[in-house]
Parts: sequence; structure tokens; C-alpha cells
Amino acid sequence: MHVLEYLYPMRTFLITSGSLENPNVMTADWVTPLSMNPPLLGVAIAHKRHTKKLIDKYGEFVVSVPTIELLKDVWIAGTLSGAKVNKAEKLSVTFVSSKKVKAPSIKECQANLECKVVDAVETGDHVFYIGEIVEVTYGDAFNDKPDVKNYNFILHISFGNSFTTNSHEIYRA
Ligand SMILES: Cc1cc2nc3c(=O)[nH]c(=O)nc-3n(C[C@H](O)[C@H](O)[C@H](O)COP(=O)(O)O)c2cc1C
Repeated sequence: MHVLEYLYPMRTFLITSGSLENPNVMTADWVTPLSMNPPLLGVAIAHKRHTKKLIDKYGEFVVSVPTIELLKDVWIAGTLSGAKVNKAEKLSVTFVSSKKVKAPSIKECQANLECKVVDAVETGDHVFYIGEIVEVTYGDAFNDKPDVKNYNFILHISFGNSFTTNSHEIYRA
């Protein structure tokens, strides 16, 4: 077992990059909030990912929040590389224009967080991209605004292919 597995479970997201005409999407667990004002998040992307090339080229990416219904796509996006295959053809998701970045959003997701890269920190075999969230749109999984009652997330149990999701029970501390 790798030492980083002690940090699991983690939420699972989709990172889109490139453009609407030439989109790529990869799966990422290593996403974290960094600042409320300005709204910043960080995502660690391995050097060898095709996504890294596209983020370096465009300076933009989108963090899409999938639902468990998209697990098959999440797995494809997380196991095939855009360097070798056109993932857009293999996935059942619909890419739509984002409002403020070239990287597309995903229609079937809950929220699409449009990010512009403000910094990139080398962290061993990954690069930690710090993105400012410049726009948020809601996909089909949220008809209107996000509401805790219909929020549904994918939780990755550990490295490997086991996932779960939130139950609708809420425990208060
Ligand atoms: C559930 C899951 C989570 C992942 N999280 C990350 C991550 O946070 N960072 C990363 O660099 N790769 C992560 N990966 C691996 C990439 O998604 C995978 O290598 C993908 O094929 C890269 O695609 P690309 O080459 O088109 O960018 C994850 C894979 C899975 C299945």
C-alpha cells in the first residue's frame, strides 16, 4: 500500500482541458479548496498526463462535479490518455461551451468550476495547479442551484476501482 492511501477516501472530479472543438477530460481525486476570497482551488496533475500539456498550453481548465451515474465515464477518463485516444468519442458525456474559459464544461455534471491558472508548483512527479474559479455553471444534475438535498458525490475509497457515494443521512457534530 502506498503511504498516500492513508489520506483516502477522497472525492472524485473530472478535469476538462483543451477546447470545445478538441476537448480532453481526465479524472482527479487530488483536488482541494485553497482560498474563499479570491476563490482558489488546487489540483495535482502528474507530469505525464496529456491534461498537463493542455493546461500548460491554454492556462485554463474546468473542474466538473460528476454524479455516481457517470462512474463508467469517470473510469474511462481516468484510465485512458488523450495522448493516445480521443476520449470524447469514448465517453457518453456532452461537452458544452464554458462561459469564461476555452476548456469545455460537461452538461451531465452537477457543477462546472471554470478555472484560470494563477500559479503552478512543481511537487515531485506532479504539478500542483492553483486555479482561480472565474465562473460556475450548473449542469443537468442540478436543474437550478445546488441544494444539499440533491447533491450527490463520488467518493473514491482508496487507490483502485472501488467507489461509493453519499447517503442522504446527515450527521451533525
Ligand atoms: C479515480 C481516479 C482518480 C485520479 N486522480 C488523479 C489525480 O488527482 N491526478 C492525476 O494526475 N491523475 C489522476 N488519475 C489518473 C488520470 O485520470 C489518468 O492517468 C488519465 O488517463 C489521464 O488522462 P490524460 O492523459 O488524457 O490527461 C486518477 C485516475 C482515477 C481513476
